[in-house]
Order: sequence, then structure tokens, then C-alpha cells
Amino acid sequence: MTHQVINGKKIAAELRTAIKKQTDARVSKGLSKPGLAVILVGENPASEVYVRNKCNACEEVGFYSLSKTFPYGVTEDELLTLIDELNNNVAINGILVQLPLPDHIDEEKVIEAINPLKDVDGFHPYNVGRLALRMPIFRSCTPKGIMTLLKSTGVALEGKEAVVIGASNIVGRPVSLELLMARCTVTTCHSRTIDVEGHVKRADIVIAAVGIPGFVKGGWIKPGAIVIDVGINRLETGKLAGDVDYDAAAKNASWITPVPGGVGPMTIASLLENTLQAAELQNS
Ligand code: GUN
Repeated sequence: MTHQVINGKKIAAELRTAIKKQTDARVSKGLSKPGLAVILVGENPASEVYVRNKCNACEEVGFYSLSKTFPYGVTEDELLTLIDELNNNVAINGILVQLPLPDHIDEEKVIEAINPLKDVDGFHPYNVGRLALRMPIFRSCTPKGIMTLLKSTGVALEGKEAVVIGASNIVGRPVSLELLMARCTVTTCHSRTIDVEGHVKRADIVIAAVGIPGFVKGGWIKPGAIVIDVGINRLETGKLAGDVDYDAAAKNASWITPVPGGVGPMTIASLLENTLQAAELQNS
């Protein structure tokens, strides 16, 4: 089976160009630049890179961005006070708290403190609930990016068997809801699933979000399946590897995402889409 590569880097770049155009059009009408506030706690190197990339992407498309970094020992009250200020700041349309947070901070309480109409990460129970009810406002960024990649293939999703490996709040659960909304038949595998291989073998669409390099073997992929690899694992050699054994899986897949350059760039592109959407909602 010859496979086609889903080029997330290119699709994300096209989205950023479209967002910049819409932003310029907003500003030339006298409306404000969309504004995003990004909050980082502690010195997690991966989070620092993500936050820097998010702020750089905002600048590239003409958004206003504000980043606030707290030391590891910040109190929950200090964070909640800042969120309250940002909720009331009209220059800020979207608020994002980079996860994970230190153990002494209640992540759910912090997420719930964000005004749901500024929750551009789509993590607030209000937005997750709306997605579950098929009436989303803000859709979580990585799942939304995955759906954009699936749509880019032109393959009709309705009625397809979709298997998601991973049930996290950030990717596995919301992407399962997205696929259900797209009228797939969805199976979500997690750490207690008995036969992951058996589930993957009958899938038309495989979403791998486990965080284990090469977890999904090439022989598990049904001929013609679409394979979306969410994993970004740093190997001891320094190389990045996905959750899927790419070379072997590509032999069976019809479409497959590379790592890097597949899902990764779509998360930030979706965040920009959500921030622009937030600005438009708040201005209307
Ligand atoms: N940590 C890992 N992924 C994400 C994300 O998409 N948003 C936030 N806020 N934190 C994350």
C-alpha cells in the first residue's frame, strides 16, 4: 500500500497565514488585536519551550501576547488573583495556564477560575461539557489540530472505526469526543485495556497518544488505515520519536503523520484560531 504523508508543518503554516490576514483585517477595521495571556509556573524546560513558541506565534500573526512566569513556589491564591485580573482585562481575549502545575496547586481549581469565554485551551469543564453535548465553543488545541489534519485528507470520517490510544484530559478524551462528533465509532484504549493490539487492528483511524516511543507496531495497522501520531518522545540518542513505529506502519497506512512535523505544529495553530475566535466572540 502506498501511503501519503500528512504534512502538519505545511497545514499549520497555511493556517497561520490565514489567521494573520484575518487579524490584519480586524485591526484595519479599528478593532483590537486578539490578546493572549500565557501563565507559566516553575522551570520545566519543555514547558518553557512551549510557552516561548506560543508567544512567538502570537507575534508572528499580529496578536498581543503577555507572558507571566511564576517561581515553582507560587501559591494557589497568587495564581487565582492573576487569573481574576486577566478575566477582567479587556485587552486579553484568551488565558492559558501551561500544564503541568506543581503538586501543591490544584490544577482543576485553577482551570475552573478562567472565564470559560477566555478558555482558549478548551480545558474548562464548561467547554469540555459543551464538546460532549456536540455544541463546542472552544475545542482543545491538540484534538482540534488532529481533526484539521484528518479533514485535510479528504477522507469521509462518518461511520469509520476510530481507535484512540490514551485517555488523558489534554488529548485522549477530547479527541475521542471530537471523533464521536464527526460520527466515527470510537474506542478509547487506556492503561487497563486488555487487548490494545486487537482494537488497533480493526481501526480505520488510529490516534496514538501514549507517550511511549514505538508503542504501536506496524503490523497492527489495518491496510488503508489513517495513522495520527501524537507522541513526541526524546530518545537517548537525542532524536525525536513518535508513539508509532513509523517505517513499518507507513507500509500499511493510507495516510500517516510524521514526528516531528505532524501533530506538533497544529497545537499552536489551533491555539491561534481559538484566540482569534475569542476576540471575535468578545467583540460581538
Ligand atoms: N501541556 C501540554 N499540552 C498543553 C496544552 O495544550 N495546553 C496547556 N495549557 N498545557 C499543556
